[in-house]
Amino acid sequence: MSASNAQEQIELHKALAPRYAFRYGFEFSRLFQQDWHAEMMRHMPAGARRVLDLGCGTGFFLAELDERRPGAVGLDISHAMLRVSEQYVPRAKVVTADAEKLPFKAAAFDTIFCKGCLHHTRDHVRFLANCQRVIDRDGVLILSEPCNDNFAIRWARTAMYHVSPHFSPEDRGFMKEELVALMERAGFEVTYAGRYGVFAYLFAGFPDHIGVLRYVPGAAWIVRQMIKLDRWICSTRFLRIVSFQVVVAGRPKRA
Ligand SMILES: C[S@@+](CC[C@H](N)C(=O)[O-])C[C@H]1O[C@@H](n2cnc3c(N)ncnc32)[C@H](O)[C@@H]1O
Repeated sequence: MSASNAQEQIELHKALAPRYAFRYGFEFSRLFQQDWHAEMMRHMPAGARRVLDLGCGTGFFLAELDERRPGAVGLDISHAMLRVSEQYVPRAKVVTADAEKLPFKAAAFDTIFCKGCLHHTRDHVRFLANCQRVIDRDGVLILSEPCNDNFAIRWARTAMYHVSPHFSPEDRGFMKEELVALMERAGFEVTYAGRYGVFAYLFAGFPDHIGVLRYVPGAAWIVRQMIKLDRWICSTRFLRIVSFQVVVAGRPKRA
């Protein structure tokens, strides 16, 4: 990552840290986040013990990982984001570092999660190759990143990244096949690639941006129904293109 982008991400997330605490403060938004995490965790090997959450931000996912796999490690470039994580995982091991220069020895982890961090970086293959280095040969990397397969979503996302002060104009989402190709170039064999998140993502994922459910009685029940609907949409061949995230899992290629 260029020094200027690293600095830009640090500044950006300094301002965003309090918004994340607010975002995860509602029951309906936590419900949605937990479902998103479950979608990622279902690719974790049953025997996984050494887990890393790359770009863990304020640690909400890390707290769940640490509950299931005690000793899970979180890494983020933003110290401000990590400071918020103290309220969710006060005892967790968290590291302030750039994901493109991972301060871990080779094969240190058997599962690496990366939820929404890759698209903030500029050299994606290098980022993924770094993950490949610190992952065990039987380990797995599980990513969830913004999906740009749908034209309207791609357009709206690009516009938002350019206009909103909460994003960098150079951040961008990925086409599903593009992310698969990046993984392969970085030395991974992709074992799963699917889409995730439609209505629940939009209405429960970001109550700091789209806050309508904050005022609706029974919001948690509504989000549960949205989650079921989204799962159906993502399982259908023609509709799943309207989803907002792509989830990819892969393991290091055998030589
Ligand atoms: C969209 S947030 C996601 C945070 C968290 N995974 C979550 O789901 O709440 C992206 C995170 O990636 C971090 N980040 C951006 N560039 C990074 C880099 N080069 N190395 C490590 N973390 C980075 C940001 O500081 C931020 O916390």
